[in-house]
Amino acid sequence: MRHLLTLRDVSAAEVQRIFSITEDLKTKHSQGLRQALLPGRVLALVFEKQSLRTRVSFEAGMAHLGGSSLMLGEDAGFGKRESIADFVRVLSQMVDVIVVRSKRHATVDEFARHSACPIINGLTDLAHPCQALADLYTLREHFGKLEGLHVAWVGDGNNVARSFAEACGHLGVRLTVCTPKGYELDPDFVHEANQHYPLLRLTTTYDPRAAVRGVAAVYTDVWTSMGQETEREQRKHDFANYQINRELMALAPRDAVFLHCLPAHRGEEVTDEVIDSPLSLVVPQAANRMHVQKGILVWLLAAKAG
Ligand code: CP
Ligand code: NVA
Repeated sequence: MRHLLTLRDVSAAEVQRIFSITEDLKTKHSQGLRQALLPGRVLALVFEKQSLRTRVSFEAGMAHLGGSSLMLGEDAGFGKRESIADFVRVLSQMVDVIVVRSKRHATVDEFARHSACPIINGLTDLAHPCQALADLYTLREHFGKLEGLHVAWVGDGNNVARSFAEACGHLGVRLTVCTPKGYELDPDFVHEANQHYPLLRLTTTYDPRAAVRGVAAVYTDVWTSMGQETEREQRKHDFANYQINRELMALAPRDAVFLHCLPAHRGEEVTDEVIDSPLSLVVPQAANRMHVQKGILVWLLAAKAG
């Protein structure tokens, strides 16, 4: 049984395979074609946190592929009305694939342990693999290739940063991660990633001005993730010098693009001027969530059938 809990669950060749399915489906989509590759298949979304992009991209993508989906929120009572194990043992008898967005990464691990169908991580405190695949797909689409690209992550060493680092490790994209002190990527994660991904070229710095020099893209995320709201004022203080604004982007090459997984807290991690600039890829990046999600679903369910 294959799952996608982190990008450690796929090989570089499988990422390329997902991208090639995505590219084919995206081209057909732009021609108005919807290829029903998953007729009759059912996707369940089990979400403990809010979502626009992840939820809608999976639901719309599944509809395009001829399948259907159902959203299970609080009222399904998972982990409260019955144990997670019982919940997923039963749910996975009735559906073909489950996307989970959970507060704790341990929850998606528990889902995977008890599930009779593939589990996809739709964001946890530790990882956002579907986002990172869409990010790299977007960079490849914009630049025509990934070889030789250098990206700066400026912000929190959070769930999105970790998965983005793993995606870069798979595909050999050079990455500089720039955070304030106290918000670095977890050192154990970095150590293990360096061992697992031979192509990973990860450097870290506390200096955003140095981080963006010479890069093809600058990527950031919110300073305060879902669930960290009580830390917001402290984080605004700690990240104050890490805002992506015109002055910082002026230190990057003139054609450097801006990435953000969204939702953005405008005026905190990024100014309107940058996120709304012609070199901001945030809308195609979000749109690619749906195309890549379709690639993941076809790859995963075809792998299951095989
Ligand atoms: N980027 C992302 O995962 O967005 P949502 O939280 O809206 O799903
Ligand atoms: N780091 C953010 C990403 C949201 C898509 C969060 O976890 O809230």
